[in-house]
Amino acid sequence: MEQRVVLITGCSSGIGLSLAVQMASDPAKTYKVYASMRNLAKKERLLEYVKGFHKDTLDIIQMDVTDQQSIQDAKEKITENRVDILVCNAGVGLMGPLETLSQDTMRQILDVNLLGTIRTIQTFLPGMKTRRRGHVLVTGSIGGLQGLPFNELYCASKFAVEGVCESLAILLQHFNIHVSLIESGPVNTHFLSNLRQSESGDAALLQVDPLTRDLYDTYLQHCSSVFHSAAQDAQDIVQVFLEAIQSPSPSLRYYTNSALLPLTSRKLAMHDGSQYIRAMSKLIFSSSGPEDP
Ligand SMILES: NC(=O)c1ccc[n+]([C@@H]2O[C@H](COP(=O)([O-])OP(=O)(O)OC[C@H]3O[C@@H](n4cnc5c(N)ncnc54)[C@H](OP(=O)(O)O)[C@@H]3O)[C@@H](O)[C@H]2O)c1
Repeated sequence: MEQRVVLITGCSSGIGLSLAVQMASDPAKTYKVYASMRNLAKKERLLEYVKGFHKDTLDIIQMDVTDQQSIQDAKEKITENRVDILVCNAGVGLMGPLETLSQDTMRQILDVNLLGTIRTIQTFLPGMKTRRRGHVLVTGSIGGLQGLPFNELYCASKFAVEGVCESLAILLQHFNIHVSLIESGPVNTHFLSNLRQSESGDAALLQVDPLTRDLYDTYLQHCSSVFHSAAQDAQDIVQVFLEAIQSPSPSLRYYTNSALLPLTSRKLAMHDGSQYIRAMSKLIFSSSGPEDP
């Protein structure tokens, strides 16, 4: 059977790397995986996992999702001249009080998480449309479904990706192209160490009012305890990707962590949002927020 050609972005670490290794290791050699990363100097980690045994199922290629030329160059390296399965996974976190974020930082996050995803899809979609076949998968986030304090820009980027995918999915049914969002909660990857974060001592943070700084400290502790208690391994996320990829009729959304679903579902059911805001405040800051006037 013809191999299914897969392109994955952000394979230098984490979910992208694990997914590339797993798919390239399929015993039936079902997939030819193009594992892309923006900096090929980081390819050793991936090569270490595959130990040179995947010559006919894996290629590592350079691709920076913020650079259209680099995406185009990557496309030209795909010798099969088609992508059957496109995984838009590259992403960066950003945490800190909104007023501390510089214009440049905000632009960079949106450039990777939102525009990078859109650029990648734009580049490979015409081929899928012509062939009337394809599956676009995106690493989504709980932060794309519910707001999280001190993650306003990250959540904005991931909420926007939800809008892009949901809108595209409606159209692409007419082309036999599926769109799936793999909605992840916390995952043990390099995400936290790669995260852009306001640090204590940052000049911008020192200028923020004391209550915001206190709440930010509390949030950071909450965040680290959530990662400690509830984070999944990249391998758990890979299993959900494979479920979506192998399904004859893939869904738009897959949730990787059922423990986090109740709050998300409650949020979606709370039409005016106020109960969600109180529930989150209680969960993170151990208070339901300021008293009603
Ligand atoms: N880990 C979590 O808790 C979590 C939760 C929900 C959703 N997610 C999402 O999962 C996805 C993967 O993250 P991860 O957890 O696997 O974290 P990770 O280990 O930090 O991996 C992120 C990957 O994205 C790449 N990347 C960053 N900017 C890029 C660019 N301009 N072009 C191409 N690649 C770029 C990174 O490359 P470099 O090594 O060059 O930086 C890295 O390979 C992200 O979209 C993230 O938002 C993660």
